[in-house]
Parts: sequence; C-alpha cells; structure tokens
Amino acid sequence: MEVLELQKKIRRVLKEKNAILLSHNYQRDEIQEIADLAGDSLELSIKASKSDCEIIVFCGVHFMAESASILSPEKTVLLPRPDAGCPMADMISADKIIDKKREIPEATVVTYVNSSADVKAESDICCTSANAISVINSVKSETVLMIPDKNLAKYASKFTDKKVLWWEGYCPIHDRLSVKEVLESKAIYPNALFVAHPECRPEVLELADHICSTSGMYEYAKNTDNEAFIIGTEMGILYRLRKENPKKSFFLASKCLFCPSMKLTTLNSVLQAITELSNVVKVPEEIRISAKKALDKMLAVPRDRAGKAKGDSAIAN
Ligand code: 13P
Ligand code: SF4
Repeated sequence: MEVLELQKKIRRVLKEKNAILLSHNYQRDEIQEIADLAGDSLELSIKASKSDCEIIVFCGVHFMAESASILSPEKTVLLPRPDAGCPMADMISADKIIDKKREIPEATVVTYVNSSADVKAESDICCTSANAISVINSVKSETVLMIPDKNLAKYASKFTDKKVLWWEGYCPIHDRLSVKEVLESKAIYPNALFVAHPECRPEVLELADHICSTSGMYEYAKNTDNEAFIIGTEMGILYRLRKENPKKSFFLASKCLFCPSMKLTTLNSVLQAITELSNVVKVPEEIRISAKKALDKMLAVPRDRAGKAKGDSAIAN
C-alpha cells in the first residue's frame, strides 16, 4: 500500500475504534505526520490520560507505553512493535536498585522516566530530561542516586548543592556523539547555535549553546532569533523543527544520531496493531501503583516558569 493510502486507512481505523495515536519526537516522519499528539514520552502519556479515547497506540519504545499504562489503567495501550525496547532503560533492573538502596540507604533514588515500570516502582521519585534539577532540589535528603543515565546525572549535578551519585547507564545514541563531530559541524556552520540533549556526554555539553529536552528544543528554535541550529539529539526531531520553522535551518551534529529502536515502528506495524488490537502493554496493578507514586511525586514538583530551576528546560504538561 502507498504511504498516503496507509495513513488514511490508519486514521479511519483509529476513528472506528475510538483510539488515539501518539508519536514520540524521534518517530519516522510519516508517523509523526498522522499522530494525534507528538511530543516527549511523559508529555504524551499525561495528555493521553486526559483524553476520552479507549485505546492508546503508542509509537515509541516499551517504557513509554508502560508509562501510558501506568497513567491510564482503564485504557488499552498498544505498542506497534513489541520489540522496540530502550537499551538505556535495559541497563538497570529493579533487583539492582534494591541492592544499591541497601548500600546507600541515605540516598533518594531519582529515576529518569526512560526506565521500566519495575524500576520506577522501586524508585522514590521520577524525573524527565526537562525537570531533573527541580526534582533533585525538591527532595529532602542531601544525597541522591540518579538512575539510569550518568550523563543526565552529571549535567544535573552542576546545578545543585546536593551530592549526586549515579548509575553507570547511558543512551548509546546520544553517548556516541563526539566532540570531534560537533567541532566539525561548527566549522561547517559557523553561525549555527549548537543545541544538545542532556543525554550527551559532558564534554559535548560543554560545547552547547543550549541544553534541553526534545520538547525544549522546539521551544528554543521557535523563540530564538538565530537562523541556523546544529542539533545534538536523535534525527527524528528534525521533522517538526523544520515544519514549525520553515525559514530556519537545522543540521544534525552527526549521522550517528539514529535510534534503531525508535525506527522499528512503521505505518504497517501501526495498522496491524490497531486492526488486530495486538501487542497490548499492561503494567501489573501492584507495580503500577508503586510506579505511579514515583511519577505523581515528580508531577507535584513545581514546574511552571517561575519555579523552573536553572538548567531545567521545558514543561512537560
Ligand atoms: P525526551 O523526549 O524526554 O527529551 O527524551 C529523549 C529520549 O531519548 C527518549 O527516548
Ligand atoms: Fe533509549 Fe536513547 Fe533510543 Fe531514547 S534515543 S529510546 S534513550 S536508546
């Protein structure tokens, strides 16, 4: 089937089934094009929980569909490709957190939303790439353990007086962006601003004009007068950046910024999942309740502009 025909068919079946299509900012262009909502993982789950749809089709990776299930237990959540996992989320498990908590009982466990439901359930509070600093500053303890991304932890540690410990996890996509590649891009596009995601290595972040979550990048590109930007995050973000800013130019800092898991989802897999109602992601109730507590605690941390900590970027809801 042609792309346009497939897109129309998906929209028709979604309507028939009272379903909503969510797309993470890193999804293929043709999926972002027909999504009801596009955004970062938490933003999408929060918005979907407020919709009166019966089915959520989550075009993203497994932990994102789990977050949707945690926040919308009454809805059926479908992940078109059940094998779309996140290598960073897989670098930590609930058992490993339990061991670590025994080792450092004084630390509050702050877990990035890029983690499984089991891991969230063992955590004290969650954070996103947009609010990590506000979250760290909001906890009572003087020591925090950030899980699973060491790069986000190192970045956040620069904006707080608390002692920040971290798990040695990382996103293989962002972590492989090198200083050399960024400097080469800067030499080719000397007038462009370099915008980087906090999952990048500290030495790469040192070169950034602005550091923010994916949603923060849309806001920054729109509100900054500069006409050119070098982008330090997964290539899927270019679709909306270019669409929303037709007069501005966006260059990817490296060809390596491609997440294979994010690109597993295709229009065909979306159509199959929604037609057959297959690949349901359902978080067991016991885990869901504990994981939701960690998410709710995070959502209670003030994140409006006035309360935004230095170093944090966008607002997720
Ligand atoms: P955000 O969209 O929350 O910035 O996360 C980036 C990411 O790597 C998601 O997989
Ligand atoms: Fe996981 Fe990184 Fe891919 Fe996001 S970009 S899904 S963090 S591997």
